[in-house]
Amino acid sequence: MNLEVQDMVSCGEPIDIGECASLKARVISEIGWQNNKILLGDIQIAGGMETSQYQVDWEEGNAAGYSALLESVGLDGKTHRILLDTGWDLEYIDRRFQEEGIDKLLLDNQIDFLFLSHEHMDHLWGLPATIKYQPDITIRVTSTLGPDGRALIRNSGHTGRLEVASPWKVYPLFPGCASVTFNMPIILRTIGEQALFFNIKDRGLVVVTGCCHMGIVKLLKFAAENIMGGDRVYGIFGGLHISPFDRWEAAQEEAVEYLAKLGIAKVGCHHCTGKLAVDKMRERGIAVVGGTGRFGSKSDAYLGNGDEIVF
Ligand SMILES: [Fe+2]
Ligand SMILES: [Fe+2]
Repeated sequence: MNLEVQDMVSCGEPIDIGECASLKARVISEIGWQNNKILLGDIQIAGGMETSQYQVDWEEGNAAGYSALLESVGLDGKTHRILLDTGWDLEYIDRRFQEEGIDKLLLDNQIDFLFLSHEHMDHLWGLPATIKYQPDITIRVTSTLGPDGRALIRNSGHTGRLEVASPWKVYPLFPGCASVTFNMPIILRTIGEQALFFNIKDRGLVVVTGCCHMGIVKLLKFAAENIMGGDRVYGIFGGLHISPFDRWEAAQEEAVEYLAKLGIAKVGCHHCTGKLAVDKMRERGIAVVGGTGRFGSKSDAYLGNGDEIVF
């Protein structure tokens, strides 16, 4: 499903992003939508995976959306909070925000910024649910964001800073945390995705993704080449887009083989990773962290809605 990443470049010398003491990640919602069949049917009717997501007549009631809260404690004891993505269906994601206390954190200005991984509907279109509680929140996007996505942000009532990240640059965000944008075409005619790196003292690098359309192998290789300590990956959190629709071919096999060799201590994957991929990872001894299968998540085999992981 992933298209080939083009023009992958190295930043030159590995970049020192500093260190932090810990990262706690809570899944607000990892279900992008309720039903795969309905979603794939909508896409097929609209013309297939290369159709713009803005031209698909999405069936009402099937949308849900991705969002997670990241809390990093610095070596100075200061806590930084990032809201990673903001879901799709407004009513659904607002309810999840209220159930997980995100509404209060936003109202109290306790979240440093909203980090929008990419333009897909299940990560971006629920933006008004965030803006409702904190219109002036800082939002970080990729420069690859298209005109429809930019209009969506403009029309959401957002009054705060919009920080735009260019492809292939490592952006230090606070000590021990940095982002990078990959520039590549993605299904449903969107471009680019950004991911986060956390360098946890005495443990190693934690890689955080939304959907990981760049491919987890490419992302980890980028980290190994461009981030100091990036060859010592301690954890992963987020969607890994290995088999979102349970397809299993050579590329999926290679991704899991690669992950197995790294001996990563904690893999907190979910969302578009795919249950089949989770099962295959476990078979190969990869330390996938289980969840509770509550609040709409369909399995306890991986971190689900309301579940937390500490790195
Ligand atoms: Fe997604
Ligand atoms: Fe996506």
